[in-house]
Amino acid sequence: VSFEVQLSQYAKLVDNRLKHLLPSPKETPCELHEAMQYSCLSPGKRLRPALVLVSCAAFSTDEKIALDAACAVEMIHSFSLIHDDLPALDNDDLRRGNPTCHVKFGEAVAILAGDALFALGFEAIANMNLPAERVVKLMKILTRSVGTYGLVGGETLDILSENQTVSTVTLETIHLRKTASLIAASCEMGAVCAGANSEDQERLRLFGEKIGLAFQIADDVLNETSTAEVLGKAVGSDRELGKATYPTLFGLEPSKRKALELAFEASNLLTHLPNHALLDEIAKYAVNRLK
Ligand code: IPE
Ligand code: IPE
Ligand code: MG
Ligand code: MG
Repeated sequence: VSFEVQLSQYAKLVDNRLKHLLPSPKETPCELHEAMQYSCLSPGKRLRPALVLVSCAAFSTDEKIALDAACAVEMIHSFSLIHDDLPALDNDDLRRGNPTCHVKFGEAVAILAGDALFALGFEAIANMNLPAERVVKLMKILTRSVGTYGLVGGETLDILSENQTVSTVTLETIHLRKTASLIAASCEMGAVCAGANSEDQERLRLFGEKIGLAFQIADDVLNETSTAEVLGKAVGSDRELGKATYPTLFGLEPSKRKALELAFEASNLLTHLPNHALLDEIAKYAVNRLK
């Protein structure tokens, strides 16, 4: 089976489970549930849930035991996109080729749909049918990766750095927190579901951190070089908002090189794992969009 087919099979598996875990729009508050489904089930790449599943499978463990962790990560990713698009943050109208959640449902429902997805993600982990010790580990990894030391802290720095001159260190911190932390957590959580030892768990985290950073650098580059039709979201917006990005600090070509280098370094971390071929493919996929 080719990598693309495998990835789309994982996406289908995740979407079917998400449909089951997300509250029904027939239940009250209907509009909230409709907004949650609208955003969470819209056509994204499902990269983070795929990383959870593939990281679990890398230890020759059936990846289905990690399915709810994969769904939890996608719910939290979806929350972050809804809030990232709000007028108070990036003020975007287009996401995954569709009107953004707040354009479709209004700001109040969009904010609340994000909040509810955030909570539901943790509930999905708490309900997992794994040894309690592993569930606690998953909770610790996920909570840490989305709070101030992760996604939310990174988003804050991103917003506060608009139209500022930022140092290389600050830029890397923004990208590591707003994007790499959840991607690293996805990989680490897959390893935890599989019962990996702490050394391998740490290796998977580092792998995820590197491809996460590469992925956000690629996102910065594509914001300048791609089109809204291809990306399903606005282009040129980073420059308009005066965002701190790799291309503004280093230029397009050095940014692309940096992303490719990070993906290569990431793959090199995993050579001893029994089943690392798919992880290698994902590392390439995170940056291949640049070519
Ligand atoms: C978009 O993430 C936000 C970033 C962290 C760059 P993705 O590029 O994974 O978005 P979807 O899920 O495919 O829409
Ligand atoms: C990515 O933010 C990180 C999060 C959404 C948490 P961006 O603002 O760079 O991503 P896009 O380009 O809107 O997807
Ligand atoms: Mg943003
Ligand atoms: Mg944005």
